[in-house]
Amino acid sequence: MTRAGGAVETSRLKGFYKLDVSKRVEEIARLAGLDEGDRRALLEMEGFGLREADHMIENVIGILPLPIGVAANFKIDGVDRLVPMAIEEPSVVAAASNSARRMREGDGIRTWASEPIMISQIQLTEVPDLERAAASVLAAKPELLAAADEGHDRLRAAGGGARDLECRFLRETRVGPMLIVHLLVDVRDAMGANAVNGMAEAIAPRLEELTGGRSCLKILSNYTTERRVRVEVEMTAAEIATENATGAEVATEIEKASALAEADPYRAATHNKGILNGIDAVLIATGQDFRAVEAGAHAWASRGGRYTALASWTRTPAGGIRGEMELPLSVGIVGGVTKVHPVVKVAIKILGVQSAADLARVAAAAGLAQNFGALHALATEGIQRGHMSLHARNVAAVAGAGPDEIAAVVKEIVAAGAVNEGAARVALARLRASR
Ligand code: MEV
Repeated sequence: MTRAGGAVETSRLKGFYKLDVSKRVEEIARLAGLDEGDRRALLEMEGFGLREADHMIENVIGILPLPIGVAANFKIDGVDRLVPMAIEEPSVVAAASNSARRMREGDGIRTWASEPIMISQIQLTEVPDLERAAASVLAAKPELLAAADEGHDRLRAAGGGARDLECRFLRETRVGPMLIVHLLVDVRDAMGANAVNGMAEAIAPRLEELTGGRSCLKILSNYTTERRVRVEVEMTAAEIATENATGAEVATEIEKASALAEADPYRAATHNKGILNGIDAVLIATGQDFRAVEAGAHAWASRGGRYTALASWTRTPAGGIRGEMELPLSVGIVGGVTKVHPVVKVAIKILGVQSAADLARVAAAAGLAQNFGALHALATEGIQRGHMSLHARNVAAVAGAGPDEIAAVVKEIVAAGAVNEGAARVALARLRASR
């Protein structure tokens, strides 16, 4: 049997968190087939310094590295995957790994991705007759699509290209009526921003001729409604039960939490923030434009006219829980930073994704896992306990604890319920005095 792209022998990494960083890299290198250069990119950021940074953006004065962790236990569409996550917030990687462990059994996490269709908008104002203009545009569709494709031979060779045109009327804006032309483009494995922006600019003059209007904005929409991903999972009562609560009790509480997020924008924002903790961390590790995805996700969450939850959870008759989420998610694995940043290249290699759609599926799975982790904690022991024991590691390090002292200091300050630097210093002094 051949392995699906990105499949590793297993993503169950028992005791991984107890290893030191270089041992972890060894283990991931073994599972994901990393070479010596990949290891050095991870451990020493070899190949990325001020010189490279200076080529990337303007007015560079330094570099801000972020930690990358690997979320364990993910089984997505039957495939074991190691999921790299770059994030500054403690507990996100642990929560994703714990949730993924609960989600492994049965059918595991299932995903679906649409075709990679991006939308580019051309805004036309001062159009004398909106209906007639739209009819002329639609009648010229073959010619306009061919013009949009001109100069995009690589995209066409990869099976992509301009696919369709749509017209939308904005009859009442504060500067008068507008015709908005949407150009739909299959961008294959690219994020596609440059291609679709260029295509919109290329056909704008012809659209002016056809409509008698004036073209203003020509730019992609980050509300990528035609490029979506869907993820769902079902867990049994046994998988979600805790020491103190049955699975059915936990499921009932999670369903209540979901219902609140669905009904109340104040909670929905936090619920969705937790989802984006997972999605963004994968996107940052893999060099994606996570702001674009966030913008699209929030627009999607408001599509019914009221901001609501991106993911929802429902009890199953057997006392388990079922979660589902759909959202626009546009990412790319060709071009841009994915081909130049050495750490991003390794992260994509670890993930082993073969297409942009694959990456979107994994990011969405990480988002749903993250959401489940947050709701499970909130519905049982509350968020602070787990959060605090992980936060305590940072506090102990800030207080000066070395790698062989952190565990003891953390244990003491968490047990005392005093996770702060002062308490950590006292615990550290006591530890050192006792040695
Ligand atoms: C914290 O970064 C994210 C959570 O607030 C999400 C949630 O409440 O669902 C824990």
